[in-house]
Formats: sequence, C-alpha cells, structure tokens
Amino acid sequence: EKVVLAYSGGLDTTAIIPWLKETFGYDVICCCIDCGQGEELDGLDERAKLSGASKLYIENIVDEFAEDFIMPCVKAGAVYENAYLLGTSMARPAIAKKLVEIARKEGAVAICHGATGKGNDQIRFELGIKALAPDIKIIAPWRMTDLWTMQSREDEIEYCKAHGIDLPFDTKHSYSRDRNLWHISHEGLELEDPSVEPNYDDLLVLSVSPENAPDEPEYVTMTFEAGVPKTINGKAMKVADIIKELNTLGGKHGIGIIDIVENRVVGMKSRGVYETPGGTILMAAHQQLEELILDRATYEVKKEMGNKLAQVVYEGKWFTPLCEAIRAFVDVTQQYVTGEVKFKLYKGNIIKAGETSPYSLYSESLASFTTGDMYDHHDADGFITLFGLPLKVRAMKMQELAKE
Ligand code: ARG
Ligand code: SIN
Repeated sequence: EKVVLAYSGGLDTTAIIPWLKETFGYDVICCCIDCGQGEELDGLDERAKLSGASKLYIENIVDEFAEDFIMPCVKAGAVYENAYLLGTSMARPAIAKKLVEIARKEGAVAICHGATGKGNDQIRFELGIKALAPDIKIIAPWRMTDLWTMQSREDEIEYCKAHGIDLPFDTKHSYSRDRNLWHISHEGLELEDPSVEPNYDDLLVLSVSPENAPDEPEYVTMTFEAGVPKTINGKAMKVADIIKELNTLGGKHGIGIIDIVENRVVGMKSRGVYETPGGTILMAAHQQLEELILDRATYEVKKEMGNKLAQVVYEGKWFTPLCEAIRAFVDVTQQYVTGEVKFKLYKGNIIKAGETSPYSLYSESLASFTTGDMYDHHDADGFITLFGLPLKVRAMKMQELAKE
C-alpha cells in the first residue's frame, strides 16, 4: 500500500519517510509542492531517494496558487485579526488539493503531513483532504505520540542515522518558517515572548526594516481588470509575476512587516512576524482602486464578507459551500474594479499618488462645493429631518422622563 507524504526536504519530513515504512509498511510517495518557497529544490530528488522514498513528485503550483487561492483573498480584502494576510492559510488548501490529486493517481490509501498537533496547519491540511477525498486516511505523526517518539531535532537525526540516512542536517534551533509566493512567516525563538522585540537583523528574509530602506521614494503604477492586476509600470504580467515584482519592490522599501499575537484555532495565542511585501502592496492598490467604484452599501457588506472569508480561510474551510458563496458575492462586486492606480513606496509606507477608472462613481461636480443641478442643498433639509427622526423622538422622551 502507498502513502503520499507532503515533503519539504527538511529534517522533520525526512525522518517521517523511514518512520512510515517501519510503522505501517507503506511505500512512501514524497510530494514537494512548490507554492513559490523560493528554495533550492535541486538535490531534493536524491535526498528523498536516500531516505527510502519510492518516488518523488515536485509539483509547481505557483500559478494556480496565485490565481485560484491568493486572488480570491485579495479581491475580498481578507485580513485575519486586522493584520495577518493569510499567506500560510491560503497555501494549505492548494497543497491539499494537489496531494489528493497525486494520491488518486498513485492509488494511495493515505496522506501524511508533518504539521504539529498544536497548530493551525494540521486543521487546514486535513479539512482540505476530507472535503476532497473523504475516503483517504490521514496520518499526522506528530499527534501519534505512542508511535512517534522523537522529541527533538537530535532525536530525529539519530533516528535517520539508525535507518541509514546520513544527510547534513544541522541541530541548530531556528525560527519556524513557512515561505511561499505570498509571504514568509516566522515563529519561535525570541518571538515566543511577546515582551521581546523581534531580532529583525536575523529574522527578515524578504525585506529590509523601514529604517534601512532607501531615502528616495519609488513610484509604481498598476492596472486592474475586474479586480485582477494586469500590468505593473506598464508591463503586462501574469498574477504570479506581478506578485514577485511587488515582492522585490516592497522588500526593498520595508513594506508589509507585521508583528502580531494571533488567536489560533486550537485555542492558544501565538506570536508571529510576517513579511508580505508584495501582498501588502497588492491589497492596498486593489483597495485604492475599489474606493472609486463600489457604492457605499455594497462596500459595507463586502467588508463583512472579507472578514468572514479571512476567518473561513484561517480555519481551513476553503472547500466549503460558505467559502464558495462568499467568493461568488465578492466576484460580483469586482465586475467593474478596472482602472489604474499610482502610489509611491517609502520606508515602510504606501503613499497614494492618484487613481482613475472608466467605472469611477466619483463625480467632481457632485463632490465640489459649488452648486450644480444634480444636488440641491435644500433637499438635505428634508433628508436630515427624516434621517434624524428616530433619535430626535428618543431624545424628547428622555427629556420628558427627566422632568418627572
Ligand atoms: N500562524 C500562521 C498561520 O496559522 C503561520 C503558520 C506557519 N506555519 C508553519 N508551519 N511554520 O497561518
Ligand atoms: C505547526 O504547528 O505545524 C505550525 C504552526 C501552525 O500550524 O499554526
């Protein structure tokens, strides 16, 4: 029987290979799913084989990740707890989908992942797999404490050695990181104490601190069609390439570094630092254009939908009717989100520098203080009388009661 293993090439998932063979007698199919982690994937093949895997898939899903998982969140303006742009959360269902695809192709009976029992990722992988392949067994070694007895990196290295795997892993404890096209997350080490300032010099991978960013601002122009970015500085590119380009620009100018204590689904608070340089710019640019186009009532409901989507995605409920329905609502609002925005990047800030759209609802003649024929100032009299009626009635009642 075969098991499909979500494989990163790191020590944890490498140690899982001999463990799966020994514990269950499975053939291990390793899958390294590339969502844009930007690491060297060369040598992975040899590493997996050396570790006893019968096969290795390296699947690049960057474009699908960008178009089908990132963009719905951008269009919705989905932000978790006011700060987190969901980089890890939205990659998990994309990975789960690919794992299921490979499991089907290989006729595997189980899928195994290396997420711990204390985190959000286990939930996201498993809800994704359950939704797409309810018959497939899920193996989470870190939760099988009677079978998985390794407690530290040293234990894992020893276990690997005992199984003939002699690879150059270091025992140095580092941050727990997760990187893809959209972001890199950092947890662990000094970050576990929220009273301590992050050690940014060691921490940052995609960006520089704002204080180390250039003293000159840099202008950027972007165009969107129906909520989707199409060009950057006049060059047409696919979404994934636009995000890459924005990562370079944003990283250089110290954009999108956030430090938060967030509420995990499993109950505890955890502190993390996220770098989302390109994503932060893309979300801001999209919002900059949207403000010209959405009417007030639609905008209000859309904000709620965006918050709801953030929660749904954070909780790993991507493949659900609720997620689909929210996305459908958002897509309708995006029909006319077409136009151009200009902004400048300067020491961690995104400063707007103008926006235009053929579908703009902004009317200069309406907004300006001069009187036009569309808006008669006297109309506001009656409007305010009715609009303020309920609160006036209540205030009068209060006055009356106070006199008694
Ligand atoms: N706390 C973030 C989230 O739940 C980041 C998780 C990072 N995952 C990891 N395997 N290092 O989305
Ligand atoms: C993990 O525990 O595997 C990483 C952190 C998380 O999933 O929240």
